[in-house]
Amino acid sequence: MNLIVAVDNNWAIGKNNDLLVRIPDDQKFFRETTIGKVVVMGRKTLESFPGKKPLRDRVNIVLTHDKDYDGKGAIVVNSMEELKEELKKYNSDDIFVIGGQKIYEQMLDMCDIAHVTKIDYEYDADAYFPNLDERDDWKIVADSDEQTYFDVIYHFYMYKKIK
Ligand SMILES: NC(=O)c1ccc[n+]([C@@H]2O[C@H](COP(=O)([O-])OP(=O)(O)OC[C@H]3O[C@@H](n4cnc5c(N)ncnc54)[C@H](OP(=O)(O)O)[C@@H]3O)[C@@H](O)[C@H]2O)c1
Repeated sequence: MNLIVAVDNNWAIGKNNDLLVRIPDDQKFFRETTIGKVVVMGRKTLESFPGKKPLRDRVNIVLTHDKDYDGKGAIVVNSMEELKEELKKYNSDDIFVIGGQKIYEQMLDMCDIAHVTKIDYEYDADAYFPNLDERDDWKIVADSDEQTYFDVIYHFYMYKKIK
């Protein structure tokens, strides 16, 4: 199972249920990586999308405790157990955990590949991802050249779980 996330220097990922910054080439990378795949997200992340709607051309699975939740086309699951049952239907390589904090925290240990866009800045934030550089079970296996978007500097990294 994969995860995909954009973090800043403090591994911050969001503020006020929104992203910290929008970088077109990172959004393109996200789209190209997840298109045709299965994306797993928390209810708050789904509601951060335009129109609070699922992502096109992907199987969307949303976690919420609300049993009457209208996912607007997303598959709705009400617990981690229910999610695990649902995910048995798909090839693990085709599943991408896409956030937010609560979902990353619960699902990190189920993943073996992490696509991490690291943005060289420290934003004001209220949502975070676990710092993989402080963990000895994850290591960087690929990285990109320096990328820029106006004065924002960032890199694409691939981490793999090694234990
Ligand atoms: N930088 C990035 O790559 C990136 C990616 C995604 C999101 N984000 C950011 O992350 C922030 C959102 O993160 P978040 O932690 O606040 O929200 P979240 O993880 O998107 O969603 C949390 C919600 O998911 C549901 N949930 C979580 N665990 C569950 C479980 N075990 N069973 C059933 N439902 C469960 C609950 O919904 P109910 O309250 O409905 O029960 C919970 O309130 C935003 O700022 C967003 O922009 C950043």
